[in-house]
Amino acid sequence: MAGARGEFSSRLGFILAASGSAVGLGNIWGFPTQAASNGGAAFLLMYLLMAFMLAYPALMAELIIGRHAKANIVTALRQVSSNVLTRFIGTLTGFAGIITASLILAFYGIVAGWMIAFAGAPLATVVGADVVASWLTGFGHTRNLVFMLIFMLLTCLIISGGVRQGIEKWSSRLMPMLLIILVGLIAYVLTLPGAMQGVKVYLLPDFGRSFNFQLIVNALGQAFFSLSLGVGTMLIYGSYISKKENIASLGRAITLIDIGIAVLAGMLIIPAMYVAQHNGVQIFDATGNLIAEDTLIFAVLPALFDTMGGTGVVIGFAFFVLMTIAALTSSISMLEAPVSYVNEVHGLSRRASAFLVSTLITVISTIIVFNFGDLFVLVITLTTRYAQPFLGLMLCLFVGWIWHRNQVLTEIKAGFEQAEQSWFWRIWPIYIRYVCPVAILTVFAQKVLG
Ligand code: TRP
Repeated sequence: MAGARGEFSSRLGFILAASGSAVGLGNIWGFPTQAASNGGAAFLLMYLLMAFMLAYPALMAELIIGRHAKANIVTALRQVSSNVLTRFIGTLTGFAGIITASLILAFYGIVAGWMIAFAGAPLATVVGADVVASWLTGFGHTRNLVFMLIFMLLTCLIISGGVRQGIEKWSSRLMPMLLIILVGLIAYVLTLPGAMQGVKVYLLPDFGRSFNFQLIVNALGQAFFSLSLGVGTMLIYGSYISKKENIASLGRAITLIDIGIAVLAGMLIIPAMYVAQHNGVQIFDATGNLIAEDTLIFAVLPALFDTMGGTGVVIGFAFFVLMTIAALTSSISMLEAPVSYVNEVHGLSRRASAFLVSTLITVISTIIVFNFGDLFVLVITLTTRYAQPFLGLMLCLFVGWIWHRNQVLTEIKAGFEQAEQSWFWRIWPIYIRYVCPVAILTVFAQKVLG
């Protein structure tokens, strides 16, 4: 199988694919709404800290194991294990990662489907199909199901194309579009009355709010979700990096792009809220906090677009296309984690693996759609609040304590000869051995014990 393994064609190909994975609804929806409800710049500040100090080292752990093993997460963790016990733990961790990635995709696909539906609504309004437009934006089982199916099919088609013809090709097309739409929208929104007040709220920190434990927990969770950590997606993308590349600098690039896009998205969403307020839309809830989460994206922003007349149609369409693109380059990375396992370990062709795994995940999504009230939030909580940080911790332990330190160094030195004398090698091993596990455990203990 090894000879037939895919590899990204270039440094840029990897950067576009991995930043496509990282940049998703977590950046354009999650980050701004968390910032909105956690004191704007206070959250931004803590997020930057968590992303650089904890998420970047954990990302490096995944990329390095992946490139070393040139395999999916299960095979990779078995390979770096030193004895029967750790190999067994590696297998369990790998499976837990694959299952978590699949469950994350199961709810992400539903949310991404809403984005497609909301992109369609302005078009329906333009042609006078108001009934269709209100069906698209109204919550309902049929709508949720139809658009989830469309989104899952797109994800599956891209992944069945493989590393270069699927992941890299589509990430290279979609990521530049994402950036252009995002920057265009920001440039436009900042010219509108009210926007500058939003910029102030977003950029002037109220430091008193930064050092609140719940805010730190949220910032860490957000950083882990945003960098797609813990479930083997970055590990498998890492396994497609050539040995010629400097992996530490690649990881740094992905982290910077991910943070940069989140910060930019905040420059769009928060000023847009204040423009909405200027236009008479309510943006504070009963307790005086900024409206956040789903109401922000699916009620406040559409209400803003409605006040903008003909321009609002174009802006609304562009905004939800942006969301759809962001979601798609992320969902393919989630699907790649289980698909690469089925493909490499069970010897099914890539196409068959992609269709088999997508079908299974789509069945789970369908179950969630029809039991929305009971399952949706539950699945999100279990996967992103518990499984993901826990698995992130396990991966740090594997790299910091189980895998042989010399082998780790050898892997980093491929493509980075001076690694041993670098700052990276002076600091990162300490992080991965001590700082990350202790920090994740602290946050985790706090969450579990309440
Ligand atoms: N990082 C993506 C976002 O910000 C989502 C994502 C892609 C993800 N792959 C993942 C999240 C794996 C958790 C695990 O939206």
